[in-house]
Amino acid sequence: MVAARRIVVLTGAGISAESGIQTFRASDGLWENHRIEDVATPEGFAANPIAVHQFYNDRRRLLLSDTIRPNPAHTALARLEHSIVDLPEHEFLLVTQNIDNLHERAGSRALVHMHGELLKMRCEQSGLSFDLREDLTLDTCCRCCRVPGNLRPDVVWFGEIPLAMSRITKALENCDLFIAIGTSGSVYPAAGFFELAREHGAHTVELNLDNTNATFDEHICGPASEVVPAYVERLLSCAS
Ligand code: OAD
Repeated sequence: MVAARRIVVLTGAGISAESGIQTFRASDGLWENHRIEDVATPEGFAANPIAVHQFYNDRRRLLLSDTIRPNPAHTALARLEHSIVDLPEHEFLLVTQNIDNLHERAGSRALVHMHGELLKMRCEQSGLSFDLREDLTLDTCCRCCRVPGNLRPDVVWFGEIPLAMSRITKALENCDLFIAIGTSGSVYPAAGFFELAREHGAHTVELNLDNTNATFDEHICGPASEVVPAYVERLLSCAS
């Protein structure tokens, strides 16, 4: 275990699996039942906006239902942030590929949603984002231009550039510990983060149900709700 001072954590769908949100690439995953090109590309949205709105509306309703709550892995990462953020020379950034809001509900604040947020909509004319808890339809009136039809889910689709990349890159180049949790490493640029961090001297760790075979310095296998709290406790026992 390293005594880390500057930590970057990357999370993927696996951290929210035990909260009841499907991952993407499992045999019962989201992409088994949908073609990515249809529901997660600008071209798919242009071809059939009603179907794309329906896809994200269904996911938003699930996220807002009483059954979906943060699990001990989300809570442990919030505890890690709050325990080290005020220590001298310590820095922390949580980068999530997830579009759910479970990290913020668990208390995380130093958080970047690199693939956007399900509970936001964006005006295609102005680029402005707005909170969203209802269904989004072609009739939803935009809050800035006051006309319907200009709004899309505020999520990053395939072929689009992830959000906050300069902040993320700076943190990766500066960190001494990089932790990837519950991500298959199938989608770039996130899949390359551990290599960038390592090139700049960081120790790299993967926490996942299975070993993804990527060349992290350390692999810890198990369900996120168990391995993440245990790993955070180990880290905090080394923090000074
Ligand atoms: P994936 O579905 O590709 O991978 C989920 C990972 O979580 C797998 O490696 C699983 O082994 C692991 N996993 C599953 N259950 C777990 C558990 N209980 N505890 C720990 N690990 C578990 O999801 P992502 O890697 O997040 O992008 O996918 C990355 C991106 O691909 C997503 O953000 C999305 C998707 O297409 C866009 O839509 C742009």
